[in-house]
Amino acid sequence: MSTTVASLFPTPFADDKAELLARLTDGLDSERLWWLSGYVAGLARAGAPARTLQLAPQTASLTETAPASPLTIVYGSQTGNAKRLAEALAQQAQDAGLSVRLLRADAYETRELKHERYLYLVISTQGDGDPPDDARGLVEFIAGKRAPELKQLKYAVLGLGDSSYPQFCAAGNRLDECLAELGATRLLERGEADLNIDAVAAPWLQRALQTAGDALKAPTPLATVTPLRAANAAATREQPFAAELLANQRIALGGSKDIRHIELSLAGSNLRYEPGDALGVWPRNPPALVEATLDALALDGDAEISYGGQSLPLRDWLSEKRELTKLARPFAALHAQRSGDGELQALLASDHAAAYQRWAEGQQVVDLLRRYRADWSGAALIEALRPLTPRLYSIASSQKAVGEEAHLTVAHVEYANEDGATRWGAASHLLAASEEGARLPVYIERNERFRLPADASRDAIMIASGTGVAPFRGFVQERTAIGATGRHWLFFGNPHFRSDFLYQLEWQRALKSGQLQRLDLAFSRDTAAKTYVQHRLRERGRDLYAWLEGGAHLYVCGAIAMGKDVHAALMDIIAEHSGRHGGDAEDYLNTLRQQGRYARDVY
Ligand SMILES: Cc1cc2nc3c(=O)[nH]c(=O)nc-3n(C[C@H](O)[C@H](O)[C@H](O)COP(=O)(O)OP(=O)(O)OC[C@H]3O[C@@H](n4cnc5c(N)ncnc54)[C@H](O)[C@@H]3O)c2cc1C
Ligand SMILES: Cc1cc2nc3c(=O)[nH]c(=O)nc-3n(C[C@H](O)[C@H](O)[C@H](O)COP(=O)(O)O)c2cc1C
Repeated sequence: MSTTVASLFPTPFADDKAELLARLTDGLDSERLWWLSGYVAGLARAGAPARTLQLAPQTASLTETAPASPLTIVYGSQTGNAKRLAEALAQQAQDAGLSVRLLRADAYETRELKHERYLYLVISTQGDGDPPDDARGLVEFIAGKRAPELKQLKYAVLGLGDSSYPQFCAAGNRLDECLAELGATRLLERGEADLNIDAVAAPWLQRALQTAGDALKAPTPLATVTPLRAANAAATREQPFAAELLANQRIALGGSKDIRHIELSLAGSNLRYEPGDALGVWPRNPPALVEATLDALALDGDAEISYGGQSLPLRDWLSEKRELTKLARPFAALHAQRSGDGELQALLASDHAAAYQRWAEGQQVVDLLRRYRADWSGAALIEALRPLTPRLYSIASSQKAVGEEAHLTVAHVEYANEDGATRWGAASHLLAASEEGARLPVYIERNERFRLPADASRDAIMIASGTGVAPFRGFVQERTAIGATGRHWLFFGNPHFRSDFLYQLEWQRALKSGQLQRLDLAFSRDTAAKTYVQHRLRERGRDLYAWLEGGAHLYVCGAIAMGKDVHAALMDIIAEHSGRHGGDAEDYLNTLRQQGRYARDVY
């Protein structure tokens, strides 16, 4: 006899309804489940008896059966911040009795826009003012020629970004402006959240919730929006796990960069990850940098500073709570006001964003404090500096192979500044300088966009430069452990064969044992004419296209610039071997992206 949901869990339904419910929810992803829960909540609030459910094609059912004024929340997120905020907003809206559905941008059917009534968008900006990968399609549609008039739509946009980039919150701003141009009504001024996200996001979400409640007549009082916590919140971004360092090995030998293979123990944490996920690491600033900052301002590191409900010695604030290794524009602007320096003020004029970024590259807070003198009290300094944020590292292992460990491939950020002083990146230096037994605060950042094929017989083409190879080590470990029959093809590029061939032995063994079918290498500085992975792709274009036509999944990981060059090479390959040119080649890649067969993780 088959076991049914009804026989496992007591429900208020008769067997046939319970069976129907099980069939309806079986295999639905979280977005669909969210939508369904909002729909049912709406029915319950209205006190209406449910209509007989027609199992119609997906879009038809969404548009035809949607409640009169549901609130739709769509997010576009690369590293999880926008997703977290959108989830918190959806949860609170639902708790307040609103009918709400939450969708990742690439799950949102653009055809629905012309029926949509209330839409909140939470979206970060990536690359060089680009939308995150999951929101590319939506942004292109809304900004494109095919976008319909949207007079019926009321909307609001919360953008996330980093004001050190020339195109601050560009994706959110673009969406906000395009929606207004299409005739939609802005419910709230757009939010532009900098890296101290909550300073803008918390009040924006609060207003968004209140506005939606007023518009959609929520029956219960609205609560405060707070980020969601997992039910078994053993370790989260806010409450990380102290992972023990098991190994710290230099794997780029004598090359231009110091690259480490790091192994951390997750034993006792309950943390689980899948290949493609990243590990979040909370950094601490190097002690010498903290002391130099205190010296530059002649401040007492032991002085107790209270800010935002927390009281700590100034030294601890600077070590664990504030960014010192990167020079954020808002801080530089405040410093310019205090110092009154004309040169600095001119640089910070709003239309000089790119010039500022060029100037700030490689400068740390202490460099600014030394070069342009100004007085700061400890309290004012803590208020003005940006809160320290965690750094993400692609996980380079599979739990099926390494159990309760997570492996990373970390490029140690170490360089000499203009004055010849050594400067380090906060997190990569913490990792590189830590010895076995040290404990580091970590959490898992899921990355649903960067997943192995669900069908293990599909081929995987993996394109990496530098530390971008990390997730692919995890991919091959995982697929070996599950006995996947799909083939693997790795393209890897770095400066020199002798010093920078990361995990050389492992790849060679994988080739021998049949876990890796093809390996193409590009060592840019070993040849007279620089050769990069995109050149290798072009050389292998015919086979690569054949793999794609055979259903292969394509993954790209590494530097942002490499991601752009690879994309251009792929367009050329598709044009050459399929006869599709320009927009048609782009459509081919967009289709792959929508099918989850073209995923990028670039940083
Ligand atoms: C999804 C994702 C996955 C990632 N995966 C990996 C990974 O697998 N491995 C990895 O190593 N990194 C990875 N990164 C990058 C990583 O998160 C950090 O950004 C990186 O390690 C730098 O952090 P840091 O704290 O050491 O340096 P920060 O303290 O953040 O300082 C970096 C700053 O130093 C400056 N700088 C760096 N190099 C130089 C130089 N040569 N000259 C002058 N200035 C310089 C730049 O201004 C830069 O902003 C990933 C990022 C993302 C978003
Ligand atoms: C590789 C990279 C590129 C970025 N480019 C921009 C940019 O051009 N403009 C901007 O405002 N923010 C930029 N940011 C900052 C992100 O938008 C910011 O960190 C945001 O909080 C990320 O949200 P998410 O986790 O939802 O993607 C960039 C961040 C990364 C990692």
